[in-house]
Amino acid sequence: MLFHNKLIAWYLQNKRHLPWRETKNPYAIWLSEIILQQTRVAQGLPYFEAFLSHYPTVQDLAHAPEDDIMRLWQGLGYYSRARNLHATAKKVTYDYNGIFPNSYKELLTLKGVGEYTAAAIASIAFDEVVPVVDGNVFRVLSRIYGITSDISSNSTKKEFQTLAKTLIPNNNPATFNQAIMDFGAIQCTPKAPNCSECVFIQECIAYQTNQVDKLPIKLKKTKVKERYLDFLIFLDEDHNTIIEQRTTKDIWLKLYQFPVVDSFIENERDIQNVLSNKFTNISPKNVTLLNEEYIKHILSHQRLFIHFWLIETKAPLKNAIPWKDLNNFGFPIVIHNFINSITL
Ligand code: ADE
Repeated sequence: MLFHNKLIAWYLQNKRHLPWRETKNPYAIWLSEIILQQTRVAQGLPYFEAFLSHYPTVQDLAHAPEDDIMRLWQGLGYYSRARNLHATAKKVTYDYNGIFPNSYKELLTLKGVGEYTAAAIASIAFDEVVPVVDGNVFRVLSRIYGITSDISSNSTKKEFQTLAKTLIPNNNPATFNQAIMDFGAIQCTPKAPNCSECVFIQECIAYQTNQVDKLPIKLKKTKVKERYLDFLIFLDEDHNTIIEQRTTKDIWLKLYQFPVVDSFIENERDIQNVLSNKFTNISPKNVTLLNEEYIKHILSHQRLFIHFWLIETKAPLKNAIPWKDLNNFGFPIVIHNFINSITL
């Protein structure tokens, strides 16, 4: 039986029933694909529902204040996706008159839409015959076809795209692409794939040659940097505090935070000293470390070690906001959770 027939037959029996699979609306499909970049379906699902109910159309999203979008995105990570989401919603609304571009090539010109996402939208919403290729597809095809190329090398993607083009059927690219996504997510998983009940057991080269746990081959490991963040929670007697919006591109651009002391090396930070040098207009009454143990937070390329300091002042803080209003701002999830875990 042909590869695509077997794969689609498996899919029709095993597929996940997901809301973006009930529609051909390119706005909803685009939204789902942006949310699902680097995010598991179970985590992305409530965000998809929330965005679609807050912003039922691309125009609604285009007209929304960016801070609202960032707040709704809170907890999903990779916040550049939310900023690109907004930029693309505006472009589709104003430059394309609210009509989504309907080809792979044009979709690729939108911010936040790379090859995978363009292929997913073009195939699922517009039935264009263009295969998706990502980590899931690398895994499925490298195992079934016994491909030993290094997937961390740029040229390997072309190799998989070329193979996938020969496999995707002209009459059903949408189902094929979603089938291979689900097959990678449910059946041919990175660890403990369900080989004993696999429809490809006969032809899977990795299985037949006992290499399932070796494929795909990835030689380059991503380097992870360690970073130490000391957040300063100022609090005056009226229960006001100071927050700022991040403006650097490294992490959390445009999200809010408490003033921070940031370092790539661990050293006992003398917060009193920091306060007298950097915050000369504030005279602290009490300085308390709120968490003795670091809160660890893992991002794709950085491991964060976080301390929160409470700095109580007698004099009213300038440019401060009420503590109870903090939830009106979009914070990185690690700060948001900390705020909600303490009572001050
Ligand atoms: N991951 C990325 N796109 C997806 C989709 N459309 N369905 C399920 N998982 C996905």
